[in-house]
Amino acid sequence: MQPKLVILTGAGISAESGLATFRAQNGLWEGHNVDDVATYDGYLRDPIGVHDFYNMLRKKLQNPNVKPNAAHYALAELEQTLGSENVTIVTQNVDNLHEKAGSKNIIHMHGELLKARNEQTGQIIDCDSDIDYTKNPDIRPHIVWFGEIPLYMDTIYQQLEQTDYFISIGTSGNVYPAAGFVQVANQVNANTIELNLEPSLKGNQFQTKIYGPASKIVPDFVKQFIKNSIN
Ligand code: APR
Repeated sequence: MQPKLVILTGAGISAESGLATFRAQNGLWEGHNVDDVATYDGYLRDPIGVHDFYNMLRKKLQNPNVKPNAAHYALAELEQTLGSENVTIVTQNVDNLHEKAGSKNIIHMHGELLKARNEQTGQIIDCDSDIDYTKNPDIRPHIVWFGEIPLYMDTIYQQLEQTDYFISIGTSGNVYPAAGFVQVANQVNANTIELNLEPSLKGNQFQTKIYGPASKIVPDFVKQFIKNSIN
């Protein structure tokens, strides 16, 4: 029987694809104050400004130079080798680089840049172009902002409770509930592994830690993992 893996990813896995992480520059995100662009209050204060920000991020993501890197591809290969039912990616990222690399079993707990949501009906729609607030005042980015509840939490906790491995990649461990997943995994005696550029805030809770750029350490880890699980 194949082992079960839950893989949590954060901004660090996409850094080498050219997408900015969140906490690199004093709490600024692409030069913006997080309170202004990533809270519902910020949206109420300035909906057009907030849409401008996500329209800009969406365009950035659609730039042909923004491609999955070797870490995204390695995770897709891992899923192909062990089967989608055994490998769940839980991502805090709102980009689509896991999908582009070929991963199938992906939970976007913080939403997706390429989706939008109708505030009145809750309907989620694909969105690959700018949102014009003046024409569509009910449409908001399908992004979980600070103070809002992340998506699919029941499924995520179910997966965590059954997992053999919990692997955290490229996340600083600042933001809950994701920052608390390692504790849940430890409680069910899963193997816990941190792959990050540097020790995260939760680094001491992981049994195994490997530090370096994701594009190097994730493929190395996956290669070894596949080798061990086949033998
Ligand atoms: N390879 C591996 N790790 C990297 C790399 C890299 N090339 N570059 C940066 N990192 C690491 C950083 O050291 C840091 O620990 O990735 C982590 C990124 O941390 P954050 O910027 O805090 O991103 P993340 O943890 O994903 O943020 C969580 O916060 O603002 C919210 O909703 C937003 O989903 C986001 C959440």
